Amino acid sequence: MKALIAAGGKATRLRPITWTHNKHVIPMANKPMLWYPIKKIVEAGITEIIINVNPGEIQYMAEHLGDGSEFGATIKYVEQRGGAKGLAHVVANAEEHLKGERFLFFLGDNIILGSIKKFVDRFQAEQLDCMIALSHVKDPNRFGVAEFHPDGSLKRTVEKPKDPPSPFAVTGIYLFDEKFFEAFKQVQPSARGEYEITDVITWYIENARVGHEIITGWWKDTGTPDALIEGNALIMDDLARESFSIDCEVPKEAEIQGLVSIGKGTVISPDCLIRGPVVIGENCQISSSYIGPYTSIGNNVRIHQTEVEHSIIFKDASIDTTNRIVNSLIGVGATLVDYKRSHPKTGHRLVIGDNSFVEL
Ligand code: DAU
Repeated sequence: MKALIAAGGKATRLRPITWTHNKHVIPMANKPMLWYPIKKIVEAGITEIIINVNPGEIQYMAEHLGDGSEFGATIKYVEQRGGAKGLAHVVANAEEHLKGERFLFFLGDNIILGSIKKFVDRFQAEQLDCMIALSHVKDPNRFGVAEFHPDGSLKRTVEKPKDPPSPFAVTGIYLFDEKFFEAFKQVQPSARGEYEITDVITWYIENARVGHEIITGWWKDTGTPDALIEGNALIMDDLARESFSIDCEVPKEAEIQGLVSIGKGTVISPDCLIRGPVVIGENCQISSSYIGPYTSIGNNVRIHQTEVEHSIIFKDASIDTTNRIVNSLIGVGATLVDYKRSHPKTGHRLVIGDNSFVEL
């Protein structure tokens, strides 16, 4: 089997971060977001991976994710031609790589806790034509939704219905057989002008054998900073204990509590408290600070006399403030300091990029 990962789109609600980063490589626990689905796909026994990227982004994405050898897999990058025409179109765009294959389609902004192996194994063992993973949600109108017959069998799936026929969202992990491309030809663009993946699934329900599983431990990035920080926390909770390691000298007076990773070359001063889960990168300087749970800190970050919690700090940032930093995304090379002069006392001096969000 092969796997196709969707990693295109503009992610406008994550600006300014997404002015310079494709959302799918934003660091989560210090690894690009897609690192986690790739790991799970390989664990499920699929080692030929295709990643759908925006036009012009092949080299950039490859710099973050490599050629797959790190995972014992091969990764090919495919540009999405013709603009955003819907998720079924993302698959159709990769036809030359998937034709005649049974494949997994994974939406890169979905995070699944636990393994997907059981799901893939069932698709193969029962030789199903299509399989979908459903999850019980409070707000089904934001998703593709499953509708069932009275006997509990699938009737159809419908995209973002105003009046959802069930509370079961169609999650972003799908398995299809080689009939996908035949089904795609039967599907018309929806009212919003997109080739909907839910319409392809409905074609399968009407013409072939479709299995479904109800899954828990699914997180869908809604594309907002808060959701991203929450996703970062969930990923840290899902990390195996043995993946946390301290690879530098930490003075014995410094307090390290819970699961903490610290990279090579990082210097921690004796008066720090680091309460995990926390992931700190390489060559950072952390002095006289409290780093609280669910914080990830990239390489070459400097934090002095600051309390930071439940936040993502990108590489090369510098923070030195008496204010407590919580639920924050601090971008590459950003500087955060207290106002050091006396006039005007109540003023804030800000140099903020386009589309930034600041809560003072
Ligand atoms: O997350 C599950 C939901 O994902 C499903 O319930 C829906 O049925 C499905 O249509 C999809 O809905 P979204 O509105 O959330 O899709 P979104 O536009 O966020 O795109 C999902 C992923 O696909 C995301 O990682 C970006 C990527 N993508 C998206 C578009 C529009 C591409 O690679 N290319 C694209 O053109």
